[in-house]
Amino acid sequence: MLFLLFSFHFCLMRRTYIQATPVKRLCKTHNTITVNGMYPGPTLEVNNGDTLVVKVTNKARYNVTIHWHGVRQMRTAWADGPEFVTQCPIRPGMSYTYRFTIQGQEGTLWWHAHSSWLRATVYGALIIHPKEGSSYPFPKPKRETPILLGEWWDANPIDVVRQATRTGAAPNISDAYTINGQPGDLYNCSSQDTVVVPIDSGETNLLRVINSGLNQPLFFTIANHQFTVVGADASYLKPFTTSVIMLGPGQTTDVLIKGDQPPSRYYLAARAYASAPNAPFDNTTTTAILEYKSAPCPAKKGLSIRPVMPPLPAFNDTATVTAFTKKLRSPQKVEVPTDIDESLFFTVGLGLNNCPRNFRSSRCQGPNGTRFTASMNNVSFVLPSNFSLLQAHHHGIPGVFTTDFPGNPPLKFDYTGNVSRSLWQPVPGTKLYKLEYGSRVQIVLQDTSIFTPENHPIHIHGYDFYIIAEGFGNFNPKTDTSKFNLVDPPLRNTVGVPVGGWAVIRFVADNPGVWLMHCHLDVHITWGLAMAFLVENGVTELEKLEAPPPDYPVC
Ligand code: C2O
Repeated sequence: MLFLLFSFHFCLMRRTYIQATPVKRLCKTHNTITVNGMYPGPTLEVNNGDTLVVKVTNKARYNVTIHWHGVRQMRTAWADGPEFVTQCPIRPGMSYTYRFTIQGQEGTLWWHAHSSWLRATVYGALIIHPKEGSSYPFPKPKRETPILLGEWWDANPIDVVRQATRTGAAPNISDAYTINGQPGDLYNCSSQDTVVVPIDSGETNLLRVINSGLNQPLFFTIANHQFTVVGADASYLKPFTTSVIMLGPGQTTDVLIKGDQPPSRYYLAARAYASAPNAPFDNTTTTAILEYKSAPCPAKKGLSIRPVMPPLPAFNDTATVTAFTKKLRSPQKVEVPTDIDESLFFTVGLGLNNCPRNFRSSRCQGPNGTRFTASMNNVSFVLPSNFSLLQAHHHGIPGVFTTDFPGNPPLKFDYTGNVSRSLWQPVPGTKLYKLEYGSRVQIVLQDTSIFTPENHPIHIHGYDFYIIAEGFGNFNPKTDTSKFNLVDPPLRNTVGVPVGGWAVIRFVADNPGVWLMHCHLDVHITWGLAMAFLVENGVTELEKLEAPPPDYPVC
């Protein structure tokens, strides 16, 4: 059990508990690590500018850390949360207090455990309202509802990942998706508890949709209703309408819906966008019910109105994903960094390690007796275990990491073509890439077809970035620069790199510390699809990392 206590600048104190709670889903009950006995955990609602103080006491039997996904953490990298990157884990029975300020971000973020696969059940919404006295750039919605899309295993998720690490095979797929913790009517044993989202005729409501699933990008839609997309990853967007959205794990999207349909019941539904050809995935559909307050009361009539089911794109409908992401724009002209100081090119993709000599075949259950792995620029990221990277950096502790992460692929090849098997085995390492304070960074993220191409949701800690272009095939610096949107690209913290394609992002390295960049599919981070930036201090005090907090956990 974890104990969380948080307060904002106006000294409001609240207490929440994370604990092992029996949770029943899909006919089965098992002990689940929860927050306050809640799954998902409590929603944090704050204002832009608030300082949060969150004391976490770990009363569970696993190590844990909490990450505030998308919070910029200016100069407070100590509070970012990824285990062994910015902190050692909070051991069972121990506590750690996270302190950080929300600066200039408005919209929807979320928090989640950042240790092993605990975030399967340890997560919740982090809603950032505009500063006191300012308002949304759209008419104030009547109601606001967080919609947390999750992924459920009928087993302890820690056992699932441990088994995969033992065998080298892909982990078991999930047994259900969930909306606010409930799978919904289309599964056995869960229909009484399906989540109901209220609406009234004529009103406009805001849905804050979060993909908190572990391993699966998801399509999300509502029967007979259009979405007006107004924000993503706590940045506003130029509003546009669509009937379906797609979110990779880690991403959030704020949408307005209007109560303009006959009063009745309509399904909200989510299911997989599975872009890797021939890879097994959870093909189920989760639902919640949009219910008009004036809908005929089923209980009174002794019959239940079956909600209207929306159509959903096919699991491999990449065209719909592309059409959707193309529409994401900042509301107005923005200052995209130009005069790039660091032009980086990172391949992102899977790999297969040959079975080590001393391993039994039971440990090499990947394709053809191999073990799955993954890498960026052929480096498969290995976390340290004795110090956090940030601590090692701040105190100059040698031997924990090196700063030779390659800025370009060590070998150029046809990334999305037929890649020779000799290139499928990456090299393990704890390599960081050093960035000078204030440098203007561009990264081309290039998917590879090693083992399989796939849409990878790549997330950077401590930063938002502009996504200035996306495309398919290999990025071509001669022709593809003409596609760069330097006017109104969207600002995000997680980009879905198109399957068998590339994305180009830009940001200014104005936040000192050690910042993890990784695929937000937990199965891929487990295999090493990550790296970290070391952003050096600037000159003035306000450009330097703060001192570590007194209760900073030791390994
Ligand atoms: Cu939302 Cu490193 O994670």
